Amino acid sequence: MIPFNKPYCSGREISYIQEVCHSTTMSGNGQFTKLCHGFFEKRYGFKKCLLCTSGTDALEMCAMLCQLKPDDEVIVPSYTFVSSAIAFLREGAHVRFADSRTDNPNISAELIEPLINEHTKVIVVVHYAGVACDMDEIMALAEKHHLIVVEDAAHSVDSFYKGKPLGGIGHLAAFSFHETKNINCGEGGMLVVNDERFIGRAEILWEKGTNRAEFYRGMVNKYGWCDIGSSFLPSEFNAAFLWAQLEQLDDIQAKRRHIWERYDEGLRGKIGNSITLPELPAYATNNYHMYYLLCPSLDVRTALMNYLKNHGVQATFHYLPLHSSKYYQDKHDGRVLANCDRYADTLMRLPLYYELTDEEIDKIIKLILKFKY
Ligand SMILES: Cc1ncc(COP(=O)(O)O)c(C=O)c1O
Repeated sequence: MIPFNKPYCSGREISYIQEVCHSTTMSGNGQFTKLCHGFFEKRYGFKKCLLCTSGTDALEMCAMLCQLKPDDEVIVPSYTFVSSAIAFLREGAHVRFADSRTDNPNISAELIEPLINEHTKVIVVVHYAGVACDMDEIMALAEKHHLIVVEDAAHSVDSFYKGKPLGGIGHLAAFSFHETKNINCGEGGMLVVNDERFIGRAEILWEKGTNRAEFYRGMVNKYGWCDIGSSFLPSEFNAAFLWAQLEQLDDIQAKRRHIWERYDEGLRGKIGNSITLPELPAYATNNYHMYYLLCPSLDVRTALMNYLKNHGVQATFHYLPLHSSKYYQDKHDGRVLANCDRYADTLMRLPLYYELTDEEIDKIIKLILKFKY
């Protein structure tokens, strides 16, 4: 079976983890954590980075930083992973789900604007498959209504919008380094703070509600309890693993690009059964996180997925709509989110990982081209 995903290892992970074993810091915020923070801050100009134990944790920090009250509303796309919404629900806010665009699964200013009212405080955008939302329009809308923008950049490492790195545009952003992402450390994530007014509190939330960061910088002579918070920082073992990957980022991206382009050359203009391929907006780059097909119906997708499975290829669908989920359907306001439902029924992801060989890609392409519905 060609699996959907194989987590990547650069080969240096074990030696960096051994270094941690022989060092005096195994908990968080040691030398590897600082190397990872420095990498992102230098390469992408992010103002403040804080590694977290998952993308979900990074989103929870974002939600805590927004200081939401029970009547507050947060706009979140329905076509996303549960974490994009849960983080804000846990803070007591009401989530209003937005539909996806017609041409890709992202949300847009046009879809967001009708949902804004006097209770709205935050817009969460998800750059699906690492392809940017139209951030100029969304940031202008947020400015007009004094809203905070949180970028769920879980898929978006090393991707850009009009030359600006994703995760560096909204007030806050969250990355994921889960094993399915381009860069991984098993489970991991990162908070990015772009708006300086959140930096001080972000450091405190990260360190269990204490001002330990100021203490380490020699700004106070002892540290204590200042706020709520949690243990969001990962151990040095995770950071060491992640550092081994970050060192190889360009190589990983080049390999993923090769795979993505081989799929695209093999399929574009040749695929039948009314199946369509992703289109990139002119303002967005591709970080080759995902290659997906859009089938004309759920039946076609089910048939294609089963056919590939029977021929040894594991392709997968993606998100189920959050607005009509078992947990949220009673809390949703009843609006039909037709594009979200369509992507949930028809989008299918192909295997894409570092070790995927040209022969395997060609086998998958040939199978798809031979598929008849
Ligand atoms: C859009 C999106 N946001 C958030 C997350 C959560 O990230 P993590 O699994 O690192 O907690 C995911 C997970 O895949 C995701 O796809």
